[in-house]
Amino acid sequence: MLQSVPLINPSLLAADFADLRQNIRQLEEAGAQIIHLDIMDGHFVPNLSFGVPVVEAVRRITNLPLDVHLMLDNPEPFLPVFRKAGADFLSIHIEVIADPRPILKTIRKLGAAAGIVSNPPTPVEFVLPFVNDADLILTMGVMPGFGGQPFNPAVLDKIRRIRHTADAGKLISVDGGISEETIAFAAQAGANLFVTGTALLGKPDIKAQFELLRRKASGQI
Ligand code: DX5
Ligand code: ZN
Repeated sequence: MLQSVPLINPSLLAADFADLRQNIRQLEEAGAQIIHLDIMDGHFVPNLSFGVPVVEAVRRITNLPLDVHLMLDNPEPFLPVFRKAGADFLSIHIEVIADPRPILKTIRKLGAAAGIVSNPPTPVEFVLPFVNDADLILTMGVMPGFGGQPFNPAVLDKIRRIRHTADAGKLISVDGGISEETIAFAAQAGANLFVTGTALLGKPDIKAQFELLRRKASGQI
């Protein structure tokens, strides 16, 4: 589904929702190959974002793969609706489920790629047993709920350990606080898919910023 890593994964949480179509065009023109959508339930995280109709709308305006990050206490009943709405990746948090294997299987049966996510304070040992049951392993660089928070460097060690345990070809993602200042550290730790909200969509020249992030992620600068 994705041609090659490393990839910048723009988070629409930082988009202008009155002008989503234009924002997505800008991201496509900048070279984006995937788009990240944050779904929040106001319970697992102390915020609400958007739901199925927005994923459906985004699906109608782009052919890019949609990476849907479910910050929900109870994600399972919503998997088929998000898949139907156009999600290509569905990620669930390890904090809400002891054994994620059945739910990862369900996601794959629905025809999507399956992701597993952990918050900064969650020990990496909770994730490591399952990394090879997932297609994408996402480590949060901030407590989820809001964009624009500072990156917690303690998560770099989690990323290193996940990279070490995961088979080649897994997507090792990081989300929260990724900017031109932090992206190279995450890349050196082993991340290859970089969710970026405010440090991309919050900039006046999205194309130039995308290129800067891409070059830093791939060690070119
Ligand atoms: C945080 C979300 C992130 C968010 C990242 O709860 O999961 O995807 O959009 O935003 P930045 O890049 O601004 O930290
Ligand atoms: Zn996210």
